[in-house]
Amino acid sequence: MQIVKTAVELTHLLESFKHQKIGFVPTMGALHKGHISLIDASKSHSNITVCSIFINPTQFNQQADFDKYPITLAEDIQQLEQADCDILFLPSLAEVYPNGTTPIKSYPLGNLANILEGAFRPGHFQGVCQVVDCLLALVAPHFIFMGQKDYQQCKVVEQLLKMPHLNHQAKLISLPTFREKSMLAMSSRNRRLSADDLEKAGELYQSLLYVTNTLKPGNEKACLQKATHNLLQNGFHSVDYIALANANSLILIEQWDGLEPLVVLGAAFLNGVRLIDNLILPVHLKGLH
Ligand code: PAF
Repeated sequence: MQIVKTAVELTHLLESFKHQKIGFVPTMGALHKGHISLIDASKSHSNITVCSIFINPTQFNQQADFDKYPITLAEDIQQLEQADCDILFLPSLAEVYPNGTTPIKSYPLGNLANILEGAFRPGHFQGVCQVVDCLLALVAPHFIFMGQKDYQQCKVVEQLLKMPHLNHQAKLISLPTFREKSMLAMSSRNRRLSADDLEKAGELYQSLLYVTNTLKPGNEKACLQKATHNLLQNGFHSVDYIALANANSLILIEQWDGLEPLVVLGAAFLNGVRLIDNLILPVHLKGLH
């Protein structure tokens, strides 16, 4: 695996692969099996796989979250070598933001940026767009691979890819969430949980599963309230949201007709660590009820 740290080096290196299919996996490091599944998918869709590790300050709405973000570079490099990743791009802050991080460019995301994660983390998706736009311009991949754990982020990047003035050619391929034994969605932030909390955190998945198993037209509010209550009874100290949305548009749903494609999404805190997860409802089954 070649490790490059500057945009100039990366562009130069990628010129030698001009006619090859390039797959791109953007990350913030502290890699886990979910990330490696993205590298594997990229390897099977493309000739050259580029992974980036960059902890992007503009997508953190709280300095403390940024400061505590886990850094495990030596381990990450080892995992990427084992997965046979071709290129690791490890840019510095100045490489990604040569003109500084403020004021950042604004991307037309509409309501998608103001709901769910956007409501609880103001500015987060503008920061994600800022860095993904910059990385896509440098790597110019055919495919970008992202995990469905960050469901709303996938929708935001889909929208970014459609912005005609940016002229990105990449297709987004989003892949299923990898889970711990407790069914907790794998995430770099899980490294901040104790062994005990890793077990308890599985309750977020169980609460979303409860919603998918119990929801029917008319019981939406009761179902979401019960799921929130379950979390608070099982060690989570606060719940940002448990919500229903259209699985395609991510428009929030209060009353479900039993047919609309649905995703249930949640965000909650366990011992100071904010966890998110989502499950897509098997509508074909629900529609039969
Ligand atoms: O999902 C992440 O790790 C980050 O949000 C991303 C896409 C690498 C942008 O910094």
